[in-house]
Amino acid sequence: MASAATASPRTFQVGIICGSQRIIRAGPQITTFIQQTISSHLAATTRSSSSGHTFALELIDVAALNLPLSDESGIPSKITSADGYEHEHTRAWSRRVAALDAFVFVSPQYNWGIPAGLKNAIDHLFNEWRGKPAAIVTYGGHGGDKCAAALKVVLGGGIDMHVVDPPVCLTFPGREFLVKAATGKELGLDGTAEEGPWGDRRADVIKAWEGLVSMLVEEKSGAV
Ligand SMILES: Cc1cc2nc3c(=O)[nH]c(=O)nc-3n(C[C@H](O)[C@H](O)[C@H](O)COP(=O)(O)O)c2cc1C
Repeated sequence: MASAATASPRTFQVGIICGSQRIIRAGPQITTFIQQTISSHLAATTRSSSSGHTFALELIDVAALNLPLSDESGIPSKITSADGYEHEHTRAWSRRVAALDAFVFVSPQYNWGIPAGLKNAIDHLFNEWRGKPAAIVTYGGHGGDKCAAALKVVLGGGIDMHVVDPPVCLTFPGREFLVKAATGKELGLDGTAEEGPWGDRRADVIKAWEGLVSMLVEEKSGAV
């Protein structure tokens, strides 16, 4: 098995998935905060990275996929290519996920669980996710730990993804923030600075990202 340091440098494609689907929502702002945090970390460390690997981040908004509740007649785990699905919306989603190497799931907690739209998007596919690394970031009044635990079971147990532990659970800093989030107002998040809401949680996001990268690089190196 080749070591991570000896594997040929390549560009890994990583999907950052926004799991909220409400019409008025905080999800896109929070997902952008996570993306910015990772991007600024990458910008600061790329030159010092010994592996030479690079990372392209692709934002995926579950709301923009416009997926219906699954209307395929086949079982996703039995389907091994996009052509195996009946509907073009499933084939398009399949091709998109298949092209990505790893994922960061950014999700609100709804009633102690996974938002229905995100679960529906996950359940449309199977082999496109299977065996790939996944990091989990949740948010909510209490940080969304129950959603994170449920996502870990679904992704790690049900689909056999390699899930980074621990997840990052972002607790709303107070009542005013919660009301702003619920009504889609500007939250003042900045993924490039220590100041501001969750500035002190950027280190946890970066730690989860590094966990994801380790899995990604080791897996690909092992396959060389
Ligand atoms: C259907 C629903 C269920 C919710 N359940 C929870 C919950 O279980 N725990 C929590 O901390 N917040 C809960 N909230 C509050 C959300 O954390 C808050 O509204 C947040 O803005 C939702 O993310 P979004 O704006 O990206 O949809 C819930 C909100 C909604 C709409």
